[in-house]
Amino acid sequence: MRTYLVTGGAGFIGSNYIHYIFEKYGSDIEVVNLDALTYAGNPENLAGIDKEPNYHFVKADICDKEAVAKVFKEFDIDRVVHFAAESHVDRSILDPEIFVKTNVGGTAVMLNCARDAWEEGSGFKAGKKFLHVSTDEVYGSLPEDGGYFYETTPYSPHSPYSASKAGSDMLVRAYMDTYKFPANITNCSNNYGPYQFPEKLIPLMINNALTGKPLPVYGDGKNVRDWLYVRDHAKAIDMVQEKGELFETYNVGGHNEKQNIEIVQLIIDTLLELLPDEDPRKKNVSRDLITYVEDRKGHDRRYAIAPDKIKAAIGWEPETMFKDGIRLTIKWYLENEAWMKNVTSGEYQKYYEKMYSGR
Ligand code: NAD
Ligand code: TYD
Repeated sequence: MRTYLVTGGAGFIGSNYIHYIFEKYGSDIEVVNLDALTYAGNPENLAGIDKEPNYHFVKADICDKEAVAKVFKEFDIDRVVHFAAESHVDRSILDPEIFVKTNVGGTAVMLNCARDAWEEGSGFKAGKKFLHVSTDEVYGSLPEDGGYFYETTPYSPHSPYSASKAGSDMLVRAYMDTYKFPANITNCSNNYGPYQFPEKLIPLMINNALTGKPLPVYGDGKNVRDWLYVRDHAKAIDMVQEKGELFETYNVGGHNEKQNIEIVQLIIDTLLELLPDEDPRKKNVSRDLITYVEDRKGHDRRYAIAPDKIKAAIGWEPETMFKDGIRLTIKWYLENEAWMKNVTSGEYQKYYEKMYSGR
């Protein structure tokens, strides 16, 4: 029986990953989800799984050494999958310090506690693995007219978010180089799918369109992101731990570059197609809601991953076509109005006001 410690498992990608491994391994694994339940963490994302006897939830901060060490004492952890992070670029521009604290400081605590628990003789106990989940944003920005991020691309982060993730990646690399700590790093492109918090482009636009609010497109709307369906990312993470070489970094990407404005228009068109005429939300949805607003500071122009290494080394490639993934995602949000209402009450209103008023 293998035991996983998943950090940030109540967030968007972490919860999708936990769903994925429960579907794949069922009762053959034990899962400990350590999450501080910040604004981005939501236990509802794991409804159903939280009743399983092999699922354990620990509410704790990854910066809290004692709490993390206690988890390693209570459970014989075999695999760490480290998602917990502050994850939103716009918030990092408003308040960078928490990003350094959580993303760099918290990763240092995770690495140290795993190292303490796993050390044996001059090495580490067999079979132990730490996977650090990172982003392609550490590589900086690509020109519009070509080029891709590879594992060998030098780091050149621009936002406080990507700088803090780059710092955390460097710490993991340092642990691998210094101690031969058994780890991998994955750098993934933009994810979309169910349970994504509506501060990010796709769920924000879906929610605003359904409620008849302006759709705030930054700058000229032509920034490009490479979108990957979240379940494909969950599968990549699992495959890296199953089949990847320790100490390697793998880029994970969707082969799916889109300009932001294309995505926003597609969301409107898909909503109009999927909503039945009698649904009162349909009358709110219109391309007229699109509003160009002041650009994000330091806005990276283009991200694109060439996932050649992960394909050649372990056979992973994106499976979900964007046209299918976006429909699944929009359907999920249409069917989960209560989820959206819950997460957009309270703190979200204040964030939205601070972020978008006067823009
Ligand atoms: P998210 O913001 O939806 O979730 C983050 C989770 O971490 C939440 O459950 C939150 O409660 C938890 N958390 C935050 N601070 C914590 C702390 N101090 N201690 C314990 N838990 C804490 O983020 P996400 O979009 O699911 O991203 C997960 C990871 O994947 C992050 O490391 C992010 O950098 C990386 N990533 C995200 C994307 C993307 O498109 N969203 C792409 C590539 C990589
Ligand atoms: P986001 O989902 O925040 O992801 P990231 O910044 O990590 O790539 O943003 C995706 C793109 O959408 C990015 O180019 C910024 C843009 N964007 C908007 O135009 N309007 C918005 O309200 C948001 C949240 C993002």
